[in-house]
Amino acid sequence: MNKQVRRAVRNVPFARAANRVRVRRDLKILEALPAYAPNSAGYPEVRSAMALHAANRSIELVGQLADHVEARGLSVVDPVEFWAGAADHGAVGRLDELLRRHGSDKSTDHDYHLVYAGILDSMPQGSSLLEIGLGTNDESIVSTMGRLARPGASLRAFRDYLPTSAVFGADIDREILFQEDRITTTWVDQTSTESVRALEAQLPDDVHLIIDDGLHSPDANMQVLLLGLRIMPVHGWLVIEDIIPAAQDFWRVVAALLPNHFEATLVRAKGGDLFVVRRTS
Ligand SMILES: C[S@@+](CC[C@H](N)C(=O)[O-])C[C@H]1O[C@@H](n2cnc3c(N)ncnc32)[C@H](O)[C@@H]1O
Repeated sequence: MNKQVRRAVRNVPFARAANRVRVRRDLKILEALPAYAPNSAGYPEVRSAMALHAANRSIELVGQLADHVEARGLSVVDPVEFWAGAADHGAVGRLDELLRRHGSDKSTDHDYHLVYAGILDSMPQGSSLLEIGLGTNDESIVSTMGRLARPGASLRAFRDYLPTSAVFGADIDREILFQEDRITTTWVDQTSTESVRALEAQLPDDVHLIIDDGLHSPDANMQVLLLGLRIMPVHGWLVIEDIIPAAQDFWRVVAALLPNHFEATLVRAKGGDLFVVRRTS
C-alpha cells in the first residue's frame, strides 16, 4: 500500500472503526489466555498472535519433555492389537449388533466395539459402568448426535451386553435423562468440579468401567480422568473417546504423570483415538 492510499484509509471512518475492533479483539485474546501471553511489553496485535502460538505449541513441547520420562511412555496400538484376535471373537460381533440396534455410532463410525468387547468381558460379573454423554438430539448443544439421535443408545447396548450390571449415565441435557431397567441417568456438567463431585457421590463403589463420550474437550476429559483416579477399583478401566491427532501431545503428558498403579494406552481407532487407562494394582 503506498503512502497516499494509507492516508486515504486512515481518513475513512469505517477503516478507523475496524482498527478499533481489531485492537479490542487482540486485548480480549490477551485477557483470555493470561498463561500464554508473553509477560513483556509490546503491541497488542503482536502479543496476542504470540499468545495463540504459545497456546498451540506449549503442550507439544511439554510432550517432548514427557518423552524423557522413559518408564511412563504412552504405548500406541491399533484396536486389534489392543485385544489380540478381538475381531475374530464372537463377543465383538454381538456388541457391534447391540450398538447398531440401539443407534450408537461406536461401531459404525468408529471401531470402538473391538476394544469395549474385551474390556466388558474382563469386568467382574455384576460390576457397574458409568458413561458421560447420553447422545442428545438437541442440535443447540455442543457434541449433539443430531436431530434423529436416540439418546441413551450406548447405555442400552452396554446394559444388554452385561446381563447383571448396573449402568449409570450422565449428561448436561436434562431433557434426555431417563431411568429404565438397570439404567440410571443423572445430570452433570463435566467441565465443573462441583458437578462431577456431586455425580461421584451418587455412584456405587464398584464402577469397573468409566467412559467419557461427552463434550470432548481436554479440560472436560481431565475432570473425568480425575474422577477415575479417585474411584477406579483395582483392574478397573477408564476410556476417553474421540481424541484427535492434534491432541496427542496433551495425552503423552497425561500418561507420563499418571500415578504408578495406572497405565495408559492410546488406541488408534477409526474416526478418533481412545485414551485407555487401567488400574493395575
Ligand atoms: C457424542 S454424544 C454421546 C453419544 C452416546 N454415548 C452414544 O454412543 O450413543 C455426547 C453427549 O455429551 C453431552 N455433553 C456435552 N457437553 C457436556 C458437558 N459439559 N457435560 C456433560 N455432558 C455433556 C451432550 O449433551 C451429548 O449428549
